[in-house]
Amino acid sequence: MNDFSSHLSVTVALYVLNCVATSTVSLHRDMDGERIDFINRCHHDGKRGTWTARRNFRIGQTDEEKRALTGVLFRPTTLPNLPPSHPTRAVASLPATFDARLKWPNCTIISDVRNQLQCGSCWAHTGASVISDRLCIASPGQKTNFKASVQDILTCNNKVPWNITSSCFGGYLDTPFAMWTTTGQYSGVVSGGEYGSSIGCKPYTAMDAACSLSCSNSDYGNSYANDKTHGFRAYNLGLPYPSTKETPTSAAIIDAIRNDIMTNGPLAVAFDVYADFYLYGLGIYKHTTGSSMGGHGLTVIGWGTDGGVDYWLMKNSWGPNWGSLGGFVKFLRGINHLGIETALAAALPLAPAATPPTTAKTSMTGRN
Ligand SMILES: *[C@@H]1O[C@H](CO)[C@@H](O)[C@H](O)[C@H]1NC(C)=O
Ligand SMILES: *[C@@H]1O[C@H](CO)[C@@H](O)[C@H](O)[C@H]1NC(C)=O
Repeated sequence: MNDFSSHLSVTVALYVLNCVATSTVSLHRDMDGERIDFINRCHHDGKRGTWTARRNFRIGQTDEEKRALTGVLFRPTTLPNLPPSHPTRAVASLPATFDARLKWPNCTIISDVRNQLQCGSCWAHTGASVISDRLCIASPGQKTNFKASVQDILTCNNKVPWNITSSCFGGYLDTPFAMWTTTGQYSGVVSGGEYGSSIGCKPYTAMDAACSLSCSNSDYGNSYANDKTHGFRAYNLGLPYPSTKETPTSAAIIDAIRNDIMTNGPLAVAFDVYADFYLYGLGIYKHTTGSSMGGHGLTVIGWGTDGGVDYWLMKNSWGPNWGSLGGFVKFLRGINHLGIETALAAALPLAPAATPPTTAKTSMTGRN
């Protein structure tokens, strides 16, 4: 007993020394530094962590600045649901690892990581990303590297028949796909590049503005109306909202999500974001420490398993210097961690070419 308790007290003392850099509360306390230290040097949940942290933002980044980098509002149940998942061609067997960048190498747009800056437009960023990726994937020779405009989605989404406004103060994952697939002069999405670029019809400004039916880039050679692309059908996949988190998600749901990514391309996804996510470096992210910062939207482009832990491969919109994977992140898969397997959204760019086989219908019941 004595040996055991002395061993225990030594362990606890080391833990405190290693994991808490300072217990002195001061105005200049580096909370993120302490979190990085905790994540990298400590074992959590009684096990070694699945990821390592690093500093991606300035020392002293405030909670207000962190919150401005998110922007997903979770969809109230009073809003119309998008149609349930369309039948998709069944994939005979799902590979253990999938990366859309490798499956569709001509679609270099899938690797394009954008930066939302201090505007809560993650919902518009993941929408623009999914629209761009899927237009390319469905195009002949997969050469249509059309860069959908976040700014067009940000400023014109309130004109579509949804009676809600998504903005720099946050928005809904479904909104870009509703805008892309409805008809009318405000519907559809034009092209537009990064903040400060002169790419496309409406480059990103990181600011809300009134919807304008013209290109802001005067050097762009196409008219606003001609530049519009349209989707065919918007839909949700995954667990219905609201869902139970941190419990196993059924294989049918996981496989429906995977099948859709492999067949049609990336999907928009949202989760509850915490302060440690900003510090992602390498490995499979699992919430470890830090307080809630709201909801965040990303684009899921694949999946895999590392060291026996399943993950989703996702693209963030915090620039290519966030994390050690060039702006991409591996995120714990299979237990609806922070709601990640709930109400994913996307749209098809074109009508499906052929009637899918009936077997697909049983494997694609994403919202039952
Ligand atoms: C990708 O581009 C190459 C070069 O133009 C072309 O030969 C190939 O067919 C394209 N791949 C697909 C899947 O269309
Ligand atoms: C739109 O929202 C407003 C404000 O919440 C509400 O008063 C109005 O009835 C809604 N319109 C429709 C068509 O649902």
